[in-house]
Amino acid sequence: MEKKHAESLLNTYIKSNSLLNHSHMVAIAMQASAKKLDKNENTIHDWWLCGLLHDIDWEIYPDQHPNHAVEHIFPILELSDEIQHAILAHAPERTGVTAETEMDCYLFASDELSGFIHAVSLIRPTGYDGMKVKSITKKLKNVNFAANVSRDDIYHGVELIGETLADHILFLINVFQDAKQRNLIN
Ligand SMILES: [Fe+2]
Ligand SMILES: [Fe+2]
Repeated sequence: MEKKHAESLLNTYIKSNSLLNHSHMVAIAMQASAKKLDKNENTIHDWWLCGLLHDIDWEIYPDQHPNHAVEHIFPILELSDEIQHAILAHAPERTGVTAETEMDCYLFASDELSGFIHAVSLIRPTGYDGMKVKSITKKLKNVNFAANVSRDDIYHGVELIGETLADHILFLINVFQDAKQRNLIN
């Protein structure tokens, strides 16, 4: 599926700007991760697509997410089994599918942490500019800040990809600073 097609499809299912922004952030995080892992062009595109579509049914069927997408949306798109598995594995409590493949693990490791980094950017006067690993780790310890973001999922995610929390945060900060400069995210 081409980029343009995937983006317009996303826009038909998601109207909320913040969820669209989240989808783009996770797509960019996945794309950058695939590049870091020296994947080929096709695989880099698949990782981007996986990130972009991972929450496609969240707005219309929050209770059935992501099962609704896998049963009713992805078959029409002929999305690869690998991407579908990764999307199922980002919500193991609702799908019973846990992260196994590299793509599964990176989606899990990027989803909640991207949301958290975005939340921190919103309370900083300079947004992503000048953001440090400490800007994030301090807030992670404050249970009242972005309380809906699961800290356990964040810690489990970095374990899955075999990174330290600090290294993965630094990687994502750099990715989002660059994306923000290029107006790809808010
Ligand atoms: Fe989700
Ligand atoms: Fe998400």
